[in-house]
Amino acid sequence: MATVDSLPSGAVTPASERLSRPLDSIDIPHKRITKICCIGAGYVGGPTCAVIAYKCPHITVTIVDLNQARIDAWNSDDLPIYEPGLDEVVKTVRGKNLFFSTDVDTAIKEADLIFVSVNTPTKKSGVGKGFAADLGYVESATRHIAKVAVSDKIVVEKSTVPCRTAQSMRKILDSNGKPGARFDILSNPEFLAEGTAIRDLFAPDRVLIGSLDTANGRSAAASLADVYGNWVPRKQVITMNLWSSELSKLAANALLAQRISSINALSAICEATGADVDEVSYAVGLDSRIGPKFLKASVGFGGSCFQKDILNLVYLSESLHLPDVAEYWRQVVEMNESQKRRFTQHIISSLFNTLTGKRLAVLGFAFKKDTGDTRESAAITLIKYFRQEQAKIAIYDPKVEESQIWYDLAEPGVVDDVTALKKQVTITSSAYEAAEGADAVVICTEWDEFRDTKLDYEKIYATMNKPAFIFDGRLILNQKKLEKIGFKVECIGRSRLEESFE
Ligand code: NAI
Repeated sequence: MATVDSLPSGAVTPASERLSRPLDSIDIPHKRITKICCIGAGYVGGPTCAVIAYKCPHITVTIVDLNQARIDAWNSDDLPIYEPGLDEVVKTVRGKNLFFSTDVDTAIKEADLIFVSVNTPTKKSGVGKGFAADLGYVESATRHIAKVAVSDKIVVEKSTVPCRTAQSMRKILDSNGKPGARFDILSNPEFLAEGTAIRDLFAPDRVLIGSLDTANGRSAAASLADVYGNWVPRKQVITMNLWSSELSKLAANALLAQRISSINALSAICEATGADVDEVSYAVGLDSRIGPKFLKASVGFGGSCFQKDILNLVYLSESLHLPDVAEYWRQVVEMNESQKRRFTQHIISSLFNTLTGKRLAVLGFAFKKDTGDTRESAAITLIKYFRQEQAKIAIYDPKVEESQIWYDLAEPGVVDDVTALKKQVTITSSAYEAAEGADAVVICTEWDEFRDTKLDYEKIYATMNKPAFIFDGRLILNQKKLEKIGFKVECIGRSRLEESFE
Protein backbone atom coordinates (compact mmCIF):
# COMPACT_ATOMS: atom_id res chain seq x y z
CA MET A 1 0.00 0.00 0.00
CA ALA A 2 1.25 3.49 -0.75
CA THR A 3 2.37 5.50 2.27
CA VAL A 4 1.63 9.16 2.44
CA ASP A 5 5.24 9.93 1.61
CA SER A 6 5.23 7.73 -1.46
CA LEU A 7 2.03 9.18 -2.92
CA PRO A 8 2.63 11.20 -6.04
CA SER A 9 3.04 14.82 -5.01
CA GLY A 10 1.57 16.09 -8.24
CA ALA A 11 5.02 17.22 -9.31
CA VAL A 12 5.89 16.10 -12.80
CA THR A 13 9.00 16.60 -14.84
CA PRO A 14 9.36 20.38 -15.03
CA ALA A 15 7.74 21.71 -18.16
CA SER A 16 11.00 23.48 -18.95
CA GLU A 17 12.61 20.08 -19.38
CA ARG A 18 9.76 18.39 -21.19
CA LEU A 19 8.47 21.15 -23.40
CA SER A 20 10.90 23.96 -23.93
CA ARG A 21 13.36 23.15 -26.62
CA PRO A 22 16.61 22.27 -24.94
CA LEU A 23 18.64 25.33 -24.23
CA ASP A 24 21.73 23.73 -25.66
CA SER A 25 20.13 24.80 -28.94
CA ILE A 26 21.51 28.17 -27.90
CA ASP A 27 24.94 26.67 -28.55
CA ILE A 28 24.21 26.17 -32.22
CA PRO A 29 25.96 28.60 -34.56
CA HIS A 30 24.06 31.85 -34.66
CA LYS A 31 24.46 35.48 -35.43
CA ARG A 32 25.36 37.97 -32.66
CA ILE A 33 22.93 40.83 -32.79
CA THR A 34 24.43 44.32 -32.78
CA LYS A 35 21.61 46.39 -34.29
CA ILE A 36 17.95 46.16 -33.42
CA CYS A 37 15.03 48.03 -34.95
CA CYS A 38 11.64 48.15 -33.26
CA ILE A 39 8.67 49.13 -35.40
CA GLY A 40 6.05 50.73 -33.14
CA ALA A 41 6.94 53.15 -30.34
CA GLY A 42 3.93 52.39 -28.17
CA TYR A 43 3.33 51.01 -24.69
CA VAL A 44 5.17 47.83 -25.62
CA GLY A 45 7.80 48.82 -28.19
CA GLY A 46 9.00 51.85 -26.19
CA PRO A 47 9.62 50.28 -22.76
CA THR A 48 10.70 46.86 -24.10
CA CYS A 49 13.35 48.16 -26.44
CA ALA A 50 14.46 50.90 -24.05
CA VAL A 51 15.22 48.16 -21.53
CA ILE A 52 17.07 46.10 -24.16
CA ALA A 53 19.25 49.15 -24.89
CA TYR A 54 19.78 49.73 -21.17
CA LYS A 55 20.79 46.14 -20.50
CA CYS A 56 22.82 45.67 -23.69
CA PRO A 57 25.19 48.62 -24.18
CA HIS A 58 26.83 46.81 -27.11
CA ILE A 59 23.56 46.77 -29.10
CA THR A 60 22.25 49.82 -30.94
CA VAL A 61 18.47 50.00 -30.66
CA THR A 62 16.36 52.24 -32.88
CA ILE A 63 12.66 52.53 -32.16
CA VAL A 64 10.67 53.83 -35.12
CA ASP A 65 7.11 54.94 -35.60
CA LEU A 66 5.07 56.66 -38.30
CA ASN A 67 3.62 58.97 -35.69
CA GLN A 68 5.91 62.02 -35.60
CA ALA A 69 4.31 63.47 -32.44
CA ARG A 70 4.94 60.24 -30.57
CA ILE A 71 8.58 60.12 -31.65
CA ASP A 72 9.04 63.79 -30.73
CA ALA A 73 7.66 63.02 -27.28
CA TRP A 74 10.04 60.06 -26.87
CA ASN A 75 12.87 62.45 -27.73
CA SER A 76 11.68 65.06 -25.22
CA ASP A 77 11.65 65.35 -21.43
CA ASP A 78 7.97 64.51 -21.42
CA LEU A 79 7.74 60.88 -22.56
CA PRO A 80 4.50 59.88 -24.29
CA ILE A 81 3.65 57.23 -21.71
CA TYR A 82 3.82 57.18 -17.94
CA GLU A 83 5.44 54.11 -16.46
CA PRO A 84 7.35 54.06 -13.15
CA GLY A 85 11.11 53.84 -13.82
CA LEU A 86 10.80 54.43 -17.56
CA ASP A 87 12.14 58.00 -17.50
CA GLU A 88 15.37 56.91 -15.86
CA VAL A 89 15.93 54.04 -18.28
CA VAL A 90 15.27 56.18 -21.36
CA LYS A 91 17.27 59.15 -20.17
CA THR A 92 20.28 56.96 -19.33
CA VAL A 93 20.65 55.45 -22.79
CA ARG A 94 18.90 57.80 -25.21
CA GLY A 95 21.38 59.25 -27.66
CA LYS A 96 23.98 56.62 -26.68
CA ASN A 97 22.64 53.29 -27.94
CA LEU A 98 18.91 54.09 -27.96
CA PHE A 99 17.34 56.21 -30.69
CA PHE A 100 13.79 57.21 -31.57
CA SER A 101 13.08 58.07 -35.18
CA THR A 102 10.51 58.24 -37.94
CA ASP A 103 13.11 57.10 -40.46
CA VAL A 104 11.71 53.58 -40.68
CA ASP A 105 13.63 52.67 -43.87
CA THR A 106 17.09 53.32 -42.48
CA ALA A 107 16.37 51.53 -39.22
CA ILE A 108 15.11 48.46 -41.10
CA LYS A 109 18.05 48.47 -43.51
CA GLU A 110 20.64 48.63 -40.74
CA ALA A 111 19.08 46.15 -38.30
CA ASP A 112 20.00 42.50 -37.79
CA LEU A 113 16.80 41.92 -35.89
CA ILE A 114 13.46 43.73 -36.17
CA PHE A 115 10.71 43.70 -33.57
CA VAL A 116 7.24 44.26 -34.97
CA SER A 117 5.48 45.91 -32.08
CA VAL A 118 2.58 47.63 -33.76
CA ASN A 119 -1.01 47.78 -32.56
CA THR A 120 -3.41 44.89 -33.23
CA PRO A 121 -6.80 46.34 -32.25
CA THR A 122 -10.12 44.57 -32.55
CA LYS A 123 -11.61 44.96 -36.05
CA LYS A 124 -14.26 47.66 -36.23
CA SER A 125 -15.82 46.54 -39.51
CA GLY A 126 -15.95 43.72 -42.03
CA VAL A 127 -15.54 40.02 -41.40
CA GLY A 128 -14.88 39.33 -37.72
CA LYS A 129 -15.99 42.85 -36.72
CA GLY A 130 -15.93 43.26 -32.94
CA PHE A 131 -13.89 40.09 -32.39
CA ALA A 132 -11.01 39.43 -34.79
CA ALA A 133 -7.70 41.26 -34.53
CA ASP A 134 -7.10 43.89 -37.17
CA LEU A 135 -3.80 42.74 -38.60
CA GLY A 136 -3.55 45.66 -41.02
CA TYR A 137 -0.73 47.31 -39.06
CA VAL A 138 1.24 44.07 -38.77
CA GLU A 139 0.85 43.48 -42.50
CA SER A 140 1.85 47.00 -43.38
CA ALA A 141 4.96 46.84 -41.18
CA THR A 142 5.86 43.45 -42.68
CA ARG A 143 5.48 44.78 -46.23
CA HIS A 144 7.67 47.72 -45.27
CA ILE A 145 10.39 45.33 -44.12
CA ALA A 146 10.14 43.30 -47.35
CA LYS A 147 10.33 46.44 -49.47
CA VAL A 148 13.33 47.96 -47.77
CA ALA A 149 15.52 45.12 -46.49
CA VAL A 150 18.59 44.28 -48.57
CA SER A 151 20.21 41.81 -46.17
CA ASP A 152 19.11 38.90 -43.94
CA LYS A 153 16.81 39.85 -41.08
CA ILE A 154 15.34 38.15 -38.08
CA VAL A 155 11.76 39.42 -37.88
CA VAL A 156 10.17 39.10 -34.46
CA GLU A 157 6.45 39.26 -33.75
CA LYS A 158 6.22 41.25 -30.54
CA SER A 159 2.62 42.28 -31.09
CA THR A 160 -0.06 39.95 -29.77
CA VAL A 161 -1.39 38.14 -32.81
CA PRO A 162 -3.73 35.27 -33.65
CA CYS A 163 -2.25 31.81 -33.99
CA ARG A 164 -0.42 31.31 -37.30
CA THR A 165 0.14 34.99 -38.07
CA ALA A 166 3.84 34.19 -38.52
CA GLN A 167 2.86 32.13 -41.53
CA SER A 168 1.19 35.13 -43.19
CA MET A 169 4.21 37.28 -42.41
CA ARG A 170 6.47 34.68 -43.99
CA LYS A 171 4.39 34.63 -47.17
CA ILE A 172 4.48 38.42 -47.44
CA LEU A 173 8.22 38.56 -46.82
CA ASP A 174 9.04 35.69 -49.16
CA SER A 175 6.94 37.02 -52.01
CA ASN A 176 8.06 40.63 -51.73
CA GLY A 177 11.59 40.45 -50.36
CA LYS A 178 14.67 41.37 -52.39
CA PRO A 179 16.73 38.50 -53.81
CA GLY A 180 19.48 37.51 -51.42
CA ALA A 181 17.66 38.77 -48.30
CA ARG A 182 16.51 35.89 -46.10
CA PHE A 183 13.97 36.32 -43.33
CA ASP A 184 13.62 34.20 -40.23
CA ILE A 185 10.47 34.76 -38.24
CA LEU A 186 10.20 34.42 -34.49
CA SER A 187 7.36 34.87 -32.05
CA ASN A 188 8.35 36.68 -28.86
CA PRO A 189 5.13 37.79 -27.16
CA GLU A 190 5.38 40.44 -24.48
CA PHE A 191 4.06 39.67 -21.00
CA LEU A 192 4.75 43.01 -19.32
CA ALA A 193 1.91 44.60 -17.40
CA GLU A 194 1.37 48.32 -17.68
CA GLY A 195 2.16 50.08 -14.41
CA THR A 196 4.92 47.58 -13.64
CA ALA A 197 6.43 47.36 -17.13
CA ILE A 198 9.99 48.23 -16.16
CA ARG A 199 10.00 45.88 -13.19
CA ASP A 200 8.51 43.13 -15.39
CA LEU A 201 11.07 43.71 -18.12
CA PHE A 202 14.01 43.77 -15.69
CA ALA A 203 12.94 40.51 -14.07
CA PRO A 204 10.47 38.67 -16.30
CA ASP A 205 8.85 35.43 -15.10
CA ARG A 206 9.85 34.05 -18.47
CA VAL A 207 10.83 35.15 -21.94
CA LEU A 208 9.11 33.13 -24.62
CA ILE A 209 10.63 32.58 -28.04
CA GLY A 210 8.80 30.60 -30.70
CA SER A 211 10.53 29.49 -33.88
CA LEU A 212 10.31 26.92 -36.62
CA ASP A 213 12.09 23.73 -35.65
CA THR A 214 14.60 24.10 -38.48
CA ALA A 215 18.30 24.88 -38.32
CA ASN A 216 17.59 28.48 -39.38
CA GLY A 217 14.68 28.79 -36.97
CA ARG A 218 16.70 27.49 -34.03
CA SER A 219 19.64 29.66 -34.95
CA ALA A 220 17.44 32.79 -35.08
CA ALA A 221 15.90 31.85 -31.71
CA ALA A 222 19.39 31.48 -30.28
CA SER A 223 20.32 34.97 -31.53
CA LEU A 224 17.33 36.48 -29.74
CA ALA A 225 17.90 34.37 -26.63
CA ASP A 226 21.44 35.77 -26.52
CA VAL A 227 20.04 39.30 -26.40
CA TYR A 228 17.84 38.49 -23.39
CA GLY A 229 20.69 36.44 -21.94
CA ASN A 230 22.40 39.72 -21.10
CA TRP A 231 20.17 40.02 -18.04
CA VAL A 232 17.59 37.21 -17.96
CA PRO A 233 18.74 33.86 -16.52
CA ARG A 234 18.94 31.33 -19.35
CA LYS A 235 16.52 28.92 -17.73
CA GLN A 236 13.84 31.60 -17.93
CA VAL A 237 14.27 32.01 -21.67
CA ILE A 238 12.06 29.28 -23.06
CA THR A 239 11.88 28.24 -26.65
CA MET A 240 9.12 26.38 -28.42
CA ASN A 241 7.23 26.06 -31.66
CA LEU A 242 5.88 29.22 -33.24
CA TRP A 243 2.21 28.38 -32.92
CA SER A 244 2.47 27.41 -29.25
CA SER A 245 4.24 30.69 -28.59
CA GLU A 246 1.60 32.75 -30.39
CA LEU A 247 -1.24 30.97 -28.62
CA SER A 248 0.46 31.16 -25.22
CA LYS A 249 0.11 34.93 -25.17
CA LEU A 250 -3.62 34.81 -25.90
CA ALA A 251 -3.97 31.97 -23.38
CA ALA A 252 -2.14 33.89 -20.64
CA ASN A 253 -4.35 36.94 -21.02
CA ALA A 254 -7.50 34.83 -21.25
CA LEU A 255 -6.64 32.99 -18.02
CA LEU A 256 -5.75 36.20 -16.18
CA ALA A 257 -8.98 37.88 -17.23
CA GLN A 258 -10.92 34.75 -16.40
CA ARG A 259 -9.65 34.91 -12.81
CA ILE A 260 -10.89 38.48 -12.49
CA SER A 261 -14.28 37.58 -13.94
CA SER A 262 -14.45 34.57 -11.63
CA ILE A 263 -13.82 36.58 -8.48
CA ASN A 264 -16.17 39.28 -9.73
CA ALA A 265 -18.89 36.67 -10.25
CA LEU A 266 -18.28 35.57 -6.66
CA SER A 267 -18.44 39.20 -5.50
CA ALA A 268 -22.07 39.32 -6.66
CA ILE A 269 -22.83 36.28 -4.50
CA CYS A 270 -21.02 37.91 -1.58
CA GLU A 271 -23.13 41.04 -1.85
CA ALA A 272 -26.30 38.97 -1.82
CA THR A 273 -25.33 36.78 1.10
CA GLY A 274 -23.21 38.75 3.55
CA ALA A 275 -19.95 37.01 2.63
CA ASP A 276 -16.98 39.33 2.11
CA VAL A 277 -15.18 38.87 -1.20
CA ASP A 278 -11.78 39.90 0.24
CA GLU A 279 -12.12 37.19 2.88
CA VAL A 280 -13.17 34.64 0.26
CA SER A 281 -10.19 35.61 -1.95
CA TYR A 282 -7.84 35.30 0.97
CA ALA A 283 -9.20 31.89 1.93
CA VAL A 284 -9.08 30.41 -1.56
CA GLY A 285 -5.78 32.07 -2.42
CA LEU A 286 -4.03 30.19 0.37
CA ASP A 287 -4.58 27.02 -1.64
CA SER A 288 -1.25 26.61 -3.39
CA ARG A 289 -3.03 25.27 -6.47
CA ILE A 290 -4.95 28.55 -6.75
CA GLY A 291 -2.52 31.13 -5.34
CA PRO A 292 -3.32 34.64 -4.12
CA LYS A 293 -2.61 36.79 -7.16
CA PHE A 294 -5.25 38.28 -9.45
CA LEU A 295 -8.07 37.52 -7.05
CA LYS A 296 -9.02 41.12 -6.25
CA ALA A 297 -12.65 41.85 -6.98
CA SER A 298 -13.25 45.14 -8.72
CA VAL A 299 -15.51 47.08 -10.97
CA GLY A 300 -14.00 45.15 -13.88
CA PHE A 301 -10.83 44.74 -15.87
CA GLY A 302 -9.78 47.20 -18.55
CA GLY A 303 -6.70 47.89 -20.60
CA SER A 304 -5.94 47.43 -24.22
CA CYS A 305 -5.31 43.71 -24.05
CA PHE A 306 -7.61 41.50 -21.99
CA GLN A 307 -10.86 42.11 -23.82
CA LYS A 308 -9.22 42.34 -27.23
CA ASP A 309 -7.24 39.15 -26.77
CA ILE A 310 -10.17 37.14 -25.43
CA LEU A 311 -12.39 38.30 -28.28
CA ASN A 312 -9.60 37.27 -30.58
CA LEU A 313 -9.64 33.83 -28.97
CA VAL A 314 -13.42 33.69 -29.33
CA TYR A 315 -13.06 34.48 -33.02
CA LEU A 316 -10.31 31.92 -33.44
CA SER A 317 -12.48 29.27 -31.72
CA GLU A 318 -15.43 30.08 -33.93
CA SER A 319 -13.28 29.92 -37.05
CA LEU A 320 -12.11 26.50 -35.92
CA HIS A 321 -15.76 25.38 -35.51
CA LEU A 322 -15.51 25.17 -31.73
CA PRO A 323 -18.66 27.05 -30.66
CA ASP A 324 -18.64 25.78 -27.05
CA VAL A 325 -15.07 26.93 -26.59
CA ALA A 326 -15.93 30.31 -28.09
CA GLU A 327 -18.94 30.67 -25.79
CA TYR A 328 -16.86 29.76 -22.74
CA TRP A 329 -14.37 32.57 -23.34
CA ARG A 330 -17.02 35.04 -24.48
CA GLN A 331 -18.61 34.72 -21.04
CA VAL A 332 -15.44 36.09 -19.40
CA VAL A 333 -15.96 39.37 -21.27
CA GLU A 334 -19.71 39.32 -20.68
CA MET A 335 -19.15 38.90 -16.91
CA ASN A 336 -16.86 41.93 -17.00
CA GLU A 337 -19.55 44.03 -18.65
CA SER A 338 -22.16 42.77 -16.24
CA GLN A 339 -20.00 43.79 -13.27
CA LYS A 340 -19.94 47.39 -14.49
CA ARG A 341 -23.72 47.38 -15.00
CA ARG A 342 -24.27 45.86 -11.56
CA PHE A 343 -22.03 48.44 -9.89
CA THR A 344 -23.89 51.26 -11.61
CA GLN A 345 -27.25 49.79 -10.64
CA HIS A 346 -26.08 49.59 -7.05
CA ILE A 347 -25.08 53.26 -7.11
CA ILE A 348 -28.44 54.27 -8.54
CA SER A 349 -30.45 52.31 -5.99
CA SER A 350 -28.30 53.54 -3.09
CA LEU A 351 -28.79 57.14 -4.18
CA PHE A 352 -32.56 56.76 -3.81
CA ASN A 353 -33.13 55.48 -7.34
CA THR A 354 -32.12 58.59 -9.19
CA LEU A 355 -28.88 60.23 -10.24
CA THR A 356 -30.56 63.13 -12.01
CA GLY A 357 -28.71 66.33 -11.21
CA LYS A 358 -26.58 64.64 -8.53
CA ARG A 359 -22.84 65.20 -8.49
CA LEU A 360 -20.65 62.14 -8.63
CA ALA A 361 -16.92 62.49 -7.97
CA VAL A 362 -15.17 59.89 -10.10
CA LEU A 363 -11.72 59.21 -8.68
CA GLY A 364 -9.51 57.59 -11.28
CA PHE A 365 -9.84 57.40 -15.03
CA ALA A 366 -6.86 55.21 -16.00
CA PHE A 367 -7.67 51.53 -16.38
CA LYS A 368 -5.40 50.73 -13.43
CA LYS A 369 -3.00 52.55 -11.14
CA ASP A 370 0.48 53.68 -12.17
CA THR A 371 -0.38 54.15 -15.82
CA GLY A 372 -1.88 56.96 -17.84
CA ASP A 373 -3.44 54.45 -20.24
CA THR A 374 -7.22 54.69 -20.47
CA ARG A 375 -7.94 52.09 -23.12
CA GLU A 376 -11.05 50.07 -22.16
CA SER A 377 -10.97 51.69 -18.73
CA ALA A 378 -13.97 50.77 -16.56
CA ALA A 379 -14.34 54.48 -15.75
CA ILE A 380 -15.32 55.24 -19.35
CA THR A 381 -18.23 52.81 -19.25
CA LEU A 382 -19.36 53.90 -15.80
CA ILE A 383 -19.33 57.57 -16.77
CA LYS A 384 -21.35 56.72 -19.87
CA TYR A 385 -23.97 55.08 -17.63
CA PHE A 386 -23.92 58.03 -15.19
CA ARG A 387 -24.47 60.42 -18.07
CA GLN A 388 -27.46 58.42 -19.27
CA GLU A 389 -28.88 58.86 -15.75
CA GLN A 390 -28.40 62.66 -16.07
CA ALA A 391 -25.79 62.86 -13.29
CA LYS A 392 -23.21 65.63 -13.05
CA ILE A 393 -19.76 64.11 -13.06
CA ALA A 394 -16.47 65.48 -11.72
CA ILE A 395 -13.43 63.48 -12.70
CA TYR A 396 -9.98 63.43 -11.18
CA ASP A 397 -7.04 61.28 -12.23
CA PRO A 398 -3.43 61.95 -11.22
CA LYS A 399 -1.88 60.96 -14.54
CA VAL A 400 -4.40 61.02 -17.37
CA GLU A 401 -4.25 64.14 -19.52
CA GLU A 402 -7.43 66.23 -19.67
CA SER A 403 -7.46 66.02 -23.48
CA GLN A 404 -7.41 62.22 -23.27
CA ILE A 405 -10.45 62.21 -20.96
CA TRP A 406 -12.44 64.41 -23.34
CA TYR A 407 -11.36 62.23 -26.24
CA ASP A 408 -12.48 59.06 -24.48
CA LEU A 409 -15.82 60.46 -23.40
CA ALA A 410 -16.86 62.21 -26.60
CA GLU A 411 -18.84 59.92 -28.84
CA PRO A 412 -17.51 60.30 -32.35
CA GLY A 413 -20.09 61.28 -34.93
CA VAL A 414 -22.42 63.10 -32.54
CA VAL A 415 -21.98 66.72 -33.58
CA ASP A 416 -22.99 68.60 -30.44
CA ASP A 417 -21.87 65.87 -28.08
CA VAL A 418 -18.86 67.74 -26.77
CA THR A 419 -21.02 70.69 -25.77
CA ALA A 420 -23.51 68.41 -24.02
CA LEU A 421 -20.64 66.52 -22.48
CA LYS A 422 -19.05 69.64 -21.05
CA LYS A 423 -22.34 70.63 -19.44
CA GLN A 424 -22.42 67.36 -17.59
CA VAL A 425 -18.76 66.62 -16.95
CA THR A 426 -15.95 68.58 -15.34
CA ILE A 427 -12.34 67.58 -14.94
CA THR A 428 -10.71 68.67 -11.72
CA SER A 429 -7.15 68.98 -10.56
CA SER A 430 -7.59 67.24 -7.21
CA ALA A 431 -9.74 64.65 -5.50
CA TYR A 432 -10.88 67.35 -3.04
CA GLU A 433 -12.11 69.57 -5.83
CA ALA A 434 -13.96 66.67 -7.46
CA ALA A 435 -15.71 65.78 -4.20
CA GLU A 436 -16.82 69.33 -3.36
CA GLY A 437 -20.61 69.39 -3.31
CA ALA A 438 -20.78 65.77 -4.46
CA ASP A 439 -23.41 63.28 -3.37
CA ALA A 440 -21.06 60.37 -3.89
CA VAL A 441 -17.42 59.53 -4.46
CA VAL A 442 -16.88 56.64 -6.85
CA ILE A 443 -13.44 54.98 -6.78
CA CYS A 444 -12.75 53.71 -10.27
CA THR A 445 -8.94 53.30 -10.21
CA GLU A 446 -6.89 51.97 -7.30
CA TRP A 447 -4.35 54.84 -7.25
CA ASP A 448 -2.48 54.80 -3.93
CA GLU A 449 -3.25 58.47 -3.41
CA PHE A 450 -6.97 57.64 -3.04
CA ARG A 451 -6.37 55.41 -0.02
CA ASP A 452 -7.72 56.60 3.32
CA THR A 453 -4.13 56.74 4.58
CA LYS A 454 -3.30 59.35 1.93
CA LEU A 455 -6.45 61.39 1.28
CA ASP A 456 -8.04 63.43 4.05
CA TYR A 457 -11.53 61.93 3.95
CA GLU A 458 -12.73 64.09 6.85
CA LYS A 459 -12.03 67.13 4.70
CA ILE A 460 -13.83 65.48 1.80
CA TYR A 461 -16.81 64.57 3.97
CA ALA A 462 -17.14 68.12 5.19
CA THR A 463 -17.65 69.48 1.68
CA MET A 464 -20.07 66.81 0.38
CA ASN A 465 -23.86 66.68 0.32
CA LYS A 466 -25.35 64.46 3.00
CA PRO A 467 -25.80 61.60 3.19
CA ALA A 468 -22.33 61.34 1.70
CA PHE A 469 -21.74 58.08 -0.15
CA ILE A 470 -18.53 56.35 -1.18
CA PHE A 471 -18.63 53.53 -3.69
CA ASP A 472 -15.36 51.64 -3.59
CA GLY A 473 -15.01 49.90 -6.92
CA ARG A 474 -11.46 48.77 -6.14
CA LEU A 475 -11.62 47.68 -2.50
CA ILE A 476 -8.87 50.05 -1.37
CA LEU A 477 -10.65 51.76 1.51
CA ASN A 478 -11.07 50.97 5.18
CA GLN A 479 -14.84 50.83 5.34
CA LYS A 480 -15.15 51.06 9.14
CA LYS A 481 -12.82 54.07 9.36
CA LEU A 482 -14.85 55.97 6.76
CA GLU A 483 -18.15 54.99 8.32
CA LYS A 484 -16.93 56.50 11.57
CA ILE A 485 -16.45 59.80 9.74
CA GLY A 486 -20.08 59.57 8.67
CA PHE A 487 -19.86 58.19 5.12
CA LYS A 488 -22.23 55.59 3.76
CA VAL A 489 -19.68 53.18 2.28
CA GLU A 490 -20.58 50.62 -0.36
CA CYS A 491 -17.92 48.18 -1.50
CA ILE A 492 -17.84 45.64 -4.29
CA GLY A 493 -18.37 42.17 -2.87
CA ARG A 494 -19.50 43.29 0.58
CA SER A 495 -23.07 43.70 1.79
CA ARG A 496 -24.66 45.44 4.72
CA LEU A 497 -26.06 42.09 5.95
CA GLU A 498 -22.77 41.57 7.84
CA GLU A 499 -22.73 38.81 10.41
CA SER A 500 -26.19 39.13 11.85
CA PHE A 501 -28.68 36.24 11.65
CA GLU A 502 -31.63 38.56 11.14
P1 NAI B 1 0.31 51.22 -29.25
O1 NAI B 1 -0.90 51.58 -30.01
O2 NAI B 1 0.64 51.95 -27.98
O3 NAI B 1 1.60 51.34 -30.18
C1 NAI B 1 1.67 50.87 -31.47
C2 NAI B 1 2.48 51.87 -32.30
O4 NAI B 1 2.74 51.29 -33.56
C3 NAI B 1 1.76 53.18 -32.56
O5 NAI B 1 2.53 54.25 -32.07
C4 NAI B 1 1.63 53.23 -34.09
O6 NAI B 1 1.77 54.53 -34.61
C5 NAI B 1 2.76 52.34 -34.52
N1 NAI B 1 2.61 51.78 -35.86
C6 NAI B 1 1.54 51.14 -36.39
N2 NAI B 1 1.82 50.73 -37.64
C7 NAI B 1 3.08 51.12 -37.91
C8 NAI B 1 3.95 50.98 -39.03
N3 NAI B 1 3.56 50.33 -40.12
N4 NAI B 1 5.19 51.52 -38.96
C9 NAI B 1 5.60 52.16 -37.86
N5 NAI B 1 4.84 52.32 -36.77
C10 NAI B 1 3.59 51.80 -36.78
O7 NAI B 1 0.18 49.66 -28.96
P2 NAI B 1 0.82 48.84 -27.74
O8 NAI B 1 -0.01 48.96 -26.53
O9 NAI B 1 2.27 49.14 -27.66
O10 NAI B 1 0.63 47.36 -28.27
C11 NAI B 1 1.41 46.83 -29.33
C12 NAI B 1 1.17 45.33 -29.39
O11 NAI B 1 1.64 44.73 -28.17
C13 NAI B 1 -0.30 44.95 -29.51
O12 NAI B 1 -0.38 43.81 -30.32
C14 NAI B 1 -0.69 44.59 -28.09
O13 NAI B 1 -1.74 43.66 -28.05
C15 NAI B 1 0.58 43.97 -27.55
N6 NAI B 1 0.76 44.05 -26.12
C16 NAI B 1 0.41 45.17 -25.43
C17 NAI B 1 0.61 45.24 -24.06
C18 NAI B 1 0.24 46.47 -23.30
O14 NAI B 1 0.28 46.41 -22.07
N7 NAI B 1 -0.12 47.57 -23.94
C19 NAI B 1 1.21 44.13 -23.32
C20 NAI B 1 1.59 43.02 -24.14
C21 NAI B 1 1.36 42.99 -25.49
